[in-house]
Amino acid sequence: MRILNLLMIAVVATSTAPADAFAGVASGTGIALSKHDINTLAGAARDDQQRICAFCHTPHHAMDPSAQDYMPLWSHNLTQQNYISYKSPTIEVDARNITDPLAGPSRLCMSCHDGIIAADQHYGDMATGTKFLTGDSFTPEANMAIGASGDLTRDHPIGFDYTKVAGAGANADGTDKRIFAADGTLTFRGNPAVLVRDQLYQGRIMTCATCHDVHNRDNNNGGADKNYFVYAPLKDSQLCLTCHDK
Ligand code: HEC
Ligand code: HEC
Ligand code: HEC
Ligand code: HEC
Repeated sequence: MRILNLLMIAVVATSTAPADAFAGVASGTGIALSKHDINTLAGAARDDQQRICAFCHTPHHAMDPSAQDYMPLWSHNLTQQNYISYKSPTIEVDARNITDPLAGPSRLCMSCHDGIIAADQHYGDMATGTKFLTGDSFTPEANMAIGASGDLTRDHPIGFDYTKVAGAGANADGTDKRIFAADGTLTFRGNPAVLVRDQLYQGRIMTCATCHDVHNRDNNNGGADKNYFVYAPLKDSQLCLTCHDK
C-alpha cells in the first residue's frame, strides 16, 4: 500500500512537469521561448548562432520562391506530400472541391508538422536535422498528418475559399450555411483586435494560419494553461463560435 502511494505521488509529480513544458510561454508574448523557438526544443540541434527566425526564414539565399505559391524568404525544406483533405457531404460544395489543401502558409507548417522533415534542419544546414515531430494528436510531438501517408482527412478542412462558403443562403443539401461572413467587422471572439479576414490567405483561403499564429504574437487563448497559438480562447469554444453560428 505504501509503495502504491509512493507510486501515485511519483505519477502526479512527473505528470505535472510535461504539462508545464507543453504550455510554453504565454499566448501573444512573441516567438522567443515559445514552442516555435526551435532552440528550446528538447532533443533538437540548436542554431550555431542561436538565431530564432533562421529555422524558417533567411535574409539571403532563400529557397526557390517558385517552389510554391507562398515562400516568405523560406529557409526550411518543403514537405513533398500530396495531402488528402477532409471530406464531408454536409459541407458547402465550394469547400468540398479543394484543389490544393496546403495552399498558402499551410505547406510551410506541414514542412515540420509532417513528421518527415526534421524541425531543426534549416538554412545553412539543410541536409541535417535530428528532431522529427513523430507523434500523433494529444501528444506534444505534433505530427498533424496520419503517419507518413499524407492524410489530413481527420483534420478541420483548409485550402478552400472561405468567401464562397460563408454568409446567408443554403448548402447543397439545403441546410443553412451558418458560417459568419469574414467582412470588415468579424473579429475573433475574445480577441477583438484581430479580423478573421486578415487571417485568410489573400483574404479568401482558409489555412492552418487562419486559426494559429505561428509567431505567437496576435493570438489570445484567454490565459489558459495550454497556448496552442490559437487566435481565440478555447474556453466556451470561442474559437469555433467565431465562424460557426451554432
Ligand atoms: C517556426 C517557423 C517560423 C519562425 C521561427 C518564424 N517564422 Fe515568420 N513565418 C512563418 C510562417 C509559416 C509564415 C507565414 C504565416 C502566415 O501567413 O500567417 C511566416 C511569415 C512571416 C512574415 C511575413 C508575413 C507577416 O506575418 O508579416 C514575416 C515578416 C516573418 N514571418 C518574420 C519572422 C521573423 C522576423 C522571425 C523571427 C523573429 C520569424 N518570422 C520566425 C514561420 C516562422
Ligand atoms: C521549423 C519547424 C516548424 C514550422 C515551420 C511550424 N512549426 Fe509548429 N511546432 C514546431 C515545433 C518543434 C513545435 C513543438 C512540438 C513539441 O513541443 O514537441 C510546434 C508546435 C506547434 C503547435 C502547438 C503549440 C502548443 O502550445 O503546444 C501548434 C499549434 C503549431 N506548432 C502550429 C503551427 C502552424 C499553424 C504552423 C504554420 C503556420 C507551424 N506550426 C509551423 C515546429 C514548426
Ligand atoms: C479551425 C481551426 C484550426 C485549423 C484550421 C487548424 N488548427 Fe491546429 N489546432 C486547433 C485547435 C483548437 C487546437 C487545440 C487542440 C485541440 O483542440 O485539439 C489545435 C492544435 C494544434 C496542434 C497541437 C496539438 C495537437 O493536436 O497535436 C498543432 C501542432 C496544430 N494544431 C497544427 C495545425 C496545422 C499544421 C494546421 C494546418 C494543417 C492546423 N493546425 C489547422 C485549431 C485549428
Ligand atoms: C475561421 C473560421 C472557422 C473556425 C475558427 C472554425 N471553423 Fe469549422 N469550418 C469553417 C468553415 C468555413 C467550414 C467549411 C464550410 C461548411 O461547413 O460548409 C468548417 C467546417 C467545419 C466542420 C465540418 C462540417 C461538415 O459538414 O462536415 C466542422 C465539424 C467544424 N468546422 C467544426 C469546427 C470546430 C469544432 C471549431 C473549433 C475548434 C471550428 N470548426 C473552427 C470555419 C471555421
